[in-house]
Amino acid sequence: MYFSGNYNYLEYTTYTIKIVSKKGDYYMDDHRYDSRWTTEELSKSYLEGVRAAIPLVQTQFDLIVKLVSGLNPDIKTVMDLGCGDGVLGRLILDAFPECHVDFVDFSRPMLDALKTKIESTDRTSIYKLDYSNPDWVNDFNDKSTYDLIISGFSIHHQPDSRKRQLYDELYHLLNHKGLFLHLEHVSSASPALNEIFDDYFIDHLFIYHQSVNPAVDRDEIATKYYNRPDKMENILAPIDIQCQWLRDIGFSDVDCYFKVFELSIFGGRKL
Ligand SMILES: C[S@@+](CC[C@H](N)C(=O)[O-])C[C@H]1O[C@@H](n2cnc3c(N)ncnc32)[C@H](O)[C@@H]1O
Repeated sequence: MYFSGNYNYLEYTTYTIKIVSKKGDYYMDDHRYDSRWTTEELSKSYLEGVRAAIPLVQTQFDLIVKLVSGLNPDIKTVMDLGCGDGVLGRLILDAFPECHVDFVDFSRPMLDALKTKIESTDRTSIYKLDYSNPDWVNDFNDKSTYDLIISGFSIHHQPDSRKRQLYDELYHLLNHKGLFLHLEHVSSASPALNEIFDDYFIDHLFIYHQSVNPAVDRDEIATKYYNRPDKMENILAPIDIQCQWLRDIGFSDVDCYFKVFELSIFGGRKL
């Protein structure tokens, strides 16, 4: 399938400009923006060098638990979509001892990392699936009954049209009162704010890497950050537009519950 610049222009102008200026026209079938995640290299560099450096992680975790406790405390069935090593699903398993978590990801190295971090209990299942294709839901047709779907820093590799379609699929996978919580990388409102976010993120990468190796150089970290291989794979969309998509789909209590520059938690529940 071929998406021209015009197609994206109709969808969301600022985003289009960003994509077109990076890569020209976007070819959905012959160029994917998420496939690098299936490599050992990116999985390892994210899990060992980036995840622990994300600013305000504990605040995000506390808010996620608070939101679930407030909006749908009796959760039993949970999906962690684009789970990586399962950091969010494992948070939920610990905080809500009655629940079962289905971990979903398409990256073998990530799922291998996940397996080392969860005990093989009857509280977890693992699905190796690619959610970029709408057929992925077929694996869940007989269990459209999630009390919580959580996703962290994964869906922003999809084009906007697919993001919105995926949110609709998630809505249909939820139970009555089911909650969707999205910890996500969203776009900055302007290039100046994007620059501040980059600098803020590099500060945090530096603090983290310095704690592992005191001799580490901030400039080196900044160079690596600006030239990271997955940078071009980010297709960031504004938080307000994504919240509006959720409202249009039918979600209630939609809001941006947390936002610091490009890091956000947003979502809603199905009433
Ligand atoms: C940045 S990592 C985030 C992992 C974890 N959710 C976290 O919060 O740290 C993105 C994850 O999304 C997964 N992912 C990306 N695109 C995917 C797709 N189309 N289908 C399934 N998983 C995908 C990647 O394999 C990777 O594990």
